[in-house]
Amino acid sequence: MARVLITSGPTREAIDPVRFIANASSGRMGRALAAAALALGHTVEVVTGPAEVAPPPGARITRVETARQMLAACERLHPSCDVLIGAAAVCDYRPAAPLAEKRRRDASTWTLELIANPDVLATLGRVKGSRVHVGFALETGPLAGAHARAREKLAEKNLDWIVLNAAETIGGDRGAYWLLARDGSDRALGERTKEELARHLVPLVTARSREA
Ligand code: C5P
Repeated sequence: MARVLITSGPTREAIDPVRFIANASSGRMGRALAAAALALGHTVEVVTGPAEVAPPPGARITRVETARQMLAACERLHPSCDVLIGAAAVCDYRPAAPLAEKRRRDASTWTLELIANPDVLATLGRVKGSRVHVGFALETGPLAGAHARAREKLAEKNLDWIVLNAAETIGGDRGAYWLLARDGSDRALGERTKEELARHLVPLVTARSREA
C-alpha cells in the first residue's frame, strides 16, 4: 500500500487582517482523490487550504492558509510519501507588504504590489526521487494552446502525469479531462465527474509507485 500526499483547496494570502486574495477552488477534486485512495486501502495525507468541502473521514488532515504554509507542510510529509498529487489551486502571488491593521475605506484607488509565491509541486519536484508526482493544469482559451501549456508544466514541475481540465470545472461536478504523461502520451478521458476522474487516476498512479 502506498502513502499518498494530496494538496487540496485554495490558498489565502492576506492583504490586511480581514482581506485576502485567493484562487477559486472548492476542494472537491482533492476530496474525491483522497476518497478514491482511501477506498483502495492507501494511507492518505491531505494538506488543504480553506476549502468549501472537508476531506473524507480516514484521511490525515493538515490545514493551512497560505502557499508558504502549504509548501512547509508538504515538505514535512513528502519524504515519507510514495505519491504526490497536487490538486490545490495555490495562489501564485501574495501581497508584498500585508498591512498590520485594517485599511479604512475611502474613495481613493488602492494599488497592491504582489510578489511570487513558491510553486509547491516544482519545489518538491527537485527532490522527487522515485516518487510518483501528478499535477493538474486548469487552462482557459483554445485547446491546442492548453495542451502545449500543460506539457510545459509537466516538464517544469518534473511530473509523471498532468491532468488538463478546462476552467468550467471550477466548483462544478464534472468536466472534460485529458491525461498527459511524461512519455509524451496525451489521452482524452472525456466528460467525467471529479469522483469518476479520481477513481481512474488513483489506481493508475499508485500502481506506478509500486513498480518503482
Ligand atoms: O502552474 P499552474 O498553477 O497552472 O500549475 C498547476 C499545478 O501546479 C497544480 O497541480 C497545482 O496544485 C500546482 N501548483 C503548486 N504550487 C503553486 C502553483 C501551482 O503546487 N504555487
